[in-house]
Amino acid sequence: MKYDIELSKVPAHIAIIMDGNGRWAKGKFLPRSAGHKAGVETIRKVLKECQRLGVKHLTLYAFSTENWKRPKLEVDTLMNLLSSYLKNETRVLHEHNVRITTIGSVDGLPKNCKSEIDRAYELTKFNTGINLNLALNYGARQDIKNAIIDIVKDTKCGKLDIGNIDEDTIKKYLSTNSIPDPDLIIRTSGEERLSNFLIWEASYSEFYFTDIHWPDFNEEELQKAVYIYQNRDRRFGGLK
Ligand code: FPP
Repeated sequence: MKYDIELSKVPAHIAIIMDGNGRWAKGKFLPRSAGHKAGVETIRKVLKECQRLGVKHLTLYAFSTENWKRPKLEVDTLMNLLSSYLKNETRVLHEHNVRITTIGSVDGLPKNCKSEIDRAYELTKFNTGINLNLALNYGARQDIKNAIIDIVKDTKCGKLDIGNIDEDTIKKYLSTNSIPDPDLIIRTSGEERLSNFLIWEASYSEFYFTDIHWPDFNEEELQKAVYIYQNRDRRFGGLK
């Protein structure tokens, strides 16, 4: 291993904004779809490396609530890549003890994607290895809005006492309720913003930005991000 990573201090949850597929393709005079295809290859590498390092949860921002604004052809490409990825790889992921979950409004995805997601979830739900958590039709503001609606409903019907609502209550109503907040958030391709990803959960996350486009990100780049993370001083607002 090129980077001296302490395996006992690997982030439990890494979340990634996989950016730059389009720019990668443009730089090679290829269609944007080739960039997304190459991006799937990077997902394979990064998932394997996270598994090897002992990361417990890997959340990937695969399709945001804003991505519907892209041309239909590109949206279709992304949906097809998603469904074929799940269709072709769920079995092998299952054999490697990977648990597949999603966050976001998956009911709003095309039927074939939704059925592959349901199948992957059902098959892998009792696995104890890494949790591959795909953010699909996900937007953090929408997730918070949905949580507020549910909290109000439960308060109205007496299931929840307004005086007892605290930060943990809010977490319970978010779609990320069963996973710890991300320790490390990685964004590729030079952009340094959250773009509506995990805005509640990222309060104390460490951020790692790299100029590398997602299709060029690899095992070594992931190690570098983890190494830099391990050398940060996380104080959570307190003192050392
Ligand atoms: C960002 O690049 C990438 C995306 C919006 C989608 C990521 C999706 C995949 C890698 C494939 C499908 C997912 C799975 C889980 C199999 P961009 O298009 O915004 O790049 P640009 O900013 O350079 O144009």
